[in-house]
Order: sequence, then structure tokens, then C-alpha cells
Amino acid sequence: MDLDKETLRTLINKAMEMRRFAYVPYSKYSVGAALLSSDNTIFTGCNVENAAFTPSNCAERTAFFKAVSEGVRKFKAIAVSAGPEGEDSTDYASPCGVCRQVMTEFCNPEDFLIICVKNKDEYKIFKLKELLPDAFGGEAINTTVIKQQ
Ligand code: THU
Repeated sequence: MDLDKETLRTLINKAMEMRRFAYVPYSKYSVGAALLSSDNTIFTGCNVENAAFTPSNCAERTAFFKAVSEGVRKFKAIAVSAGPEGEDSTDYASPCGVCRQVMTEFCNPEDFLIICVKNKDEYKIFKLKELLPDAFGGEAINTTVIKQQ
């Protein structure tokens, strides 16, 4: 699955922009995400932290849960941007393991693209299966599988 240049650019820009909304009083590390659904809608997200720490939510999962809670379950790609709060990012963002697991629930590992953004001109694109090989999925527990690809 290829993304056209304009869509790629839009996802990168939106992921970078979304860092401004991150609520990160504890880590001071802001993350933004832009998730593209199969019907070409973009759902954005940022990380939202909590004083009790475990209720905190990553930017990627914020974007996924916004989409799924609006009835959208099929996706093409996500862009992620991260760095110290209030500063331009200087390194490639990389989704945490929990977010990779959530991606696995809804995305085809062969097709779904993860765009790890450093800045608007520097980014790396991975397939989900590269970032979470041999993933644990619903098939393993012999239940109804949500994947629709
Ligand atoms: N974080 C994300 O939002 N996405 C990731 O994939 C990695 C980590 C957030 C969680 C926490 O608010 C902060 O970054 C520091 O771990």
C-alpha cells in the first residue's frame, strides 16, 4: 500500500502539529499522531497524562480510540512525532509496544504503515509487521476477529 506524496505530507504535518495539544505535566514529552482510515479520514491524537500515571494515554491510542469510537475500524497509516515539550523534535518517534498491540487489533500487519517522523523532511516508514513481528492476535484465543482487511 502506497501513500501519495500529498497525503504523506498531510499526515506528517498533522502529527507534528498535534504535539501542541499534548497534556504532559509529568514527562514533559509531547507526542502527536495522525491516523489515516481506509476511507481517507484523518483522526488525530496527542498523549494525555495523569497524576496517577497508569491512566495516561499515548498519542497513537488517542487517535485509534477516537476513530473506533466513531465507528471506524479500518486503517491505512499513522504518522507519529515526539520530543521534549515546547521544542522541535530531534529524533524519530517510535510507537510504544502497547500502541503497536492496539494497531495489531485493527490493522493488517502486511499493509498498515507507521511513519516515524523526525521532522518534516526526515521520516522512516515501516510496516506494522516489521515493528511487531509474530504479534499476538484474536485468532490465538479463538474468538471473533475484528480485522476486516
Ligand atoms: N508516549 C506516546 O504518546 N506514544 C508512544 O508511543 C510512546 C510514549 C507518551 C506516553 C507518555 O505521555 C510520554 O510519551 C512519555 O513516555
